[in-house]
Amino acid sequence: MRDTFGRQIEYLRISVTDRCNLRCVYCMPPEGVEKLGHEKIMHFEEIAEVVRVAAQYGVRAVRLTGGEPLVRKELPRLVRMIAETPGIEDVSLTTNGILLADLAAPLAEAGLKRVNVSLDTLDADKFTRITRVGSIENVWQGIAAAEKAGLAPLKINVVTMRGVNDDELMDMALLAKEHPWTVRFIELMPVKNQAPWGPGFPEPENAYISIQEMLQILEPLHLEPLTRKVGLGPAREYSLPGGMGKVGFISPVGDHFCAECNRLRLTADGNIRPCLLSDVEIPLLPALRAGESILPLLQQALRVKPEGHTLAEHITPHGRCMQQIGG
Ligand code: GTP
Ligand code: 5AD
Ligand code: SF4
Repeated sequence: MRDTFGRQIEYLRISVTDRCNLRCVYCMPPEGVEKLGHEKIMHFEEIAEVVRVAAQYGVRAVRLTGGEPLVRKELPRLVRMIAETPGIEDVSLTTNGILLADLAAPLAEAGLKRVNVSLDTLDADKFTRITRVGSIENVWQGIAAAEKAGLAPLKINVVTMRGVNDDELMDMALLAKEHPWTVRFIELMPVKNQAPWGPGFPEPENAYISIQEMLQILEPLHLEPLTRKVGLGPAREYSLPGGMGKVGFISPVGDHFCAECNRLRLTADGNIRPCLLSDVEIPLLPALRAGESILPLLQQALRVKPEGHTLAEHITPHGRCMQQIGG
């Protein structure tokens, strides 16, 4: 599948639920957001049908996201259905890690290859303040279980925020010294209805840190850019001299990667969303539930996928919040 701008689309990010067991300050308000009704959520069989058709036309990697994907019941069953789809070579998951300790082994057994775990701080109290409800201990147990289950390479996603975790970038990067993990620093993206984060936090609009500034902070590590593009995602990766793992940066704002974008998104309620940061969506559920082919809709998605976003020029938050799209 190629889009209008010649980009090869080979990666499908599937949000399996809009629900989440955390309330991260940069993602949603403390009370959460309105949830989708059960009848609106795609059934596993419907998701598997979308994957089957997409795989026939060149999609070879699938990432499950949320909300928090692990709160969706019977997730290993879906992973197995996707992993068994002809043409799919890579099934991965992005999670906050809270429920990973119990699920890592069954997911790996079902065909999951790797996980990306969100972790914005190493400080237990700060973790609970950022997530409003979470315990960092659960995440460490989840990471340990993922390693034991052979889910590799394990990636840690750190959303960097001035006045919140900018004092920890060095310590977090150093996780890649002792562990074979890729620690990735993510520029904060503006999201819809950004309410104040709460006492002790900066104003959201002051929290953004550019990739250029992060590289400066990490200068003492002498990171070496890896010339070969590793993996299918947007991260720019660096090796850490003397370290077991790697360091990466994801810079949707300061140095965006739209020209290399290789993905489509599927929302939990069955819409193809061609770009994270554009609100254009194409509903698949009516066709799926009527037993009609979804191929024309996928082709339409390729036609309307925008060339890039305009965040850098004018910060225009989009109509769904991040938790509802899956990042
Ligand atoms: P792999 O490289 O395959 O491991 O996955 P990934 O880095 O694409 O997935 P992950 O879910 O871990 O995403 C990490 C960060 O990148 C999140 O903050 C996402 O919101 C962001 N991201 C992923 N894809 C896109 C994209 O197409 N556009 C933008 N703007 N951000 C993206
Ligand atoms: N900006 C950047 N990354 C974000 N994520 C969630 N909200 C934002 C935001 N506003 C990240 C999560 C997770 C991934 C799926 O998206 O921390 O790592
Ligand atoms: Fe945090 Fe992700 Fe849940 Fe949003 S969806 S509250 S970023 S764990």
